[in-house]
Amino acid sequence: MRRQAPVVQDPDSGMWMVFGYPDVQRVLSDWRVFSSQQGRPRGEDAESALSSSMISTDPPRHRQLRTLVEQAFTPRQVRELAPRIGQLTHELLDQVQAGRLDFVHDFAYPLPVIVIAEILGIPAQDRDRFKRWSDQVVTGDRSGSREMAGYFATLIEQRRADPGPDLISGLLAAQLEGEHLNTQELLGFCILLLVAGNETTTNLLTNTVLCWQDAPEAYQRVRQDPELLSGTIEESLRYRSPVQSMFRTCVQDVELSGVTIPAGRPVLAWIGSANRDEQQFEQADTFDPARTPNRHLAFGNGIHFCLGAPLARLEASIALGAVLERLPELRVEPGTVLEPIESRIVAGVKRLPV
Ligand code: HEM
Repeated sequence: MRRQAPVVQDPDSGMWMVFGYPDVQRVLSDWRVFSSQQGRPRGEDAESALSSSMISTDPPRHRQLRTLVEQAFTPRQVRELAPRIGQLTHELLDQVQAGRLDFVHDFAYPLPVIVIAEILGIPAQDRDRFKRWSDQVVTGDRSGSREMAGYFATLIEQRRADPGPDLISGLLAAQLEGEHLNTQELLGFCILLLVAGNETTTNLLTNTVLCWQDAPEAYQRVRQDPELLSGTIEESLRYRSPVQSMFRTCVQDVELSGVTIPAGRPVLAWIGSANRDEQQFEQADTFDPARTPNRHLAFGNGIHFCLGAPLARLEASIALGAVLERLPELRVEPGTVLEPIESRIVAGVKRLPV
């Protein structure tokens, strides 16, 4: 597609698809032309709350929301989570029996949920409900949506009355020019964290194992030289991007790669394709953990650049570091048929026996 039709309208959905690196970068970052704004929230479900969260707004509102949230979710606070993430990682690996596990179900799936749940101060007994809600929002299933929104609304009110050391209490206290986040905005942010931070990180971990399967020599190299782990994670983000595409609305006629997209049309920027653009990356289809520079777009670009990138990178380096150490000779079970997650946005597999 990048070579033959780098910008094309999908005849079924009417959506404009953008595939090349420079065009995808522009769609993600040029918010004056490619808006993230969604319609006004209408209900009391998770989707309505999400549509008033920062990922669905443009400046100046986006800047205000992001500044408020950045007060409570700082890189320093993320770094301080390292010992706890290490502990959780080892607890999960302690449960591995006879050297076999479903890498998704037993490891890559629970770890990020527990981390986000603990950041938000959610009681341990509610975690399973949590994961279910997060999966439902990602797959477009709205059945648990009201229940999830109601759950968070109650939790927010509890924290308002009785603040603790958790992120929700921090967000309630954050202010900009005397303004606080209102309950709907806070709800939107909690749901955004759940959705943006779980499935994506699960897939980063799992996709890295798949990358090692594609390139066994890269796996052997990182086992011998753990310094290569950070390059491995960046290359995994590029080569098997957990978020494959992001949505925008084009607000004025605009030309991309010689094609005019008319104002008012939905646009899908294909991050997964941009990250394999051979004009940008030498030997783009080769998994190379030593690739420098590696300016992938896996975390987006511009004002909406992933707020959770430091957390995702930290979790991945701790979790995969422990996997290299404790599960030597990791192999996908022979004969495994990979079943992709049903989503246009996130890329990963449903199970991975190793
Ligand atoms: C935004 C990817 C993990 C929170 C984004 C965007 C991408 C992305 C592509 C840009 C969206 C856009 O341009 O519209 C990823 C990937 C992850 C990951 C690949 C893991 C490997 C996380 C985690 C969190 C998080 C762990 C939080 C704990 C967010 C938030 C935004 C965002 C809040 C919205 C930022 C804004 O609109 O200003 N992420 N993400 N993400 N991500 Fe992540």
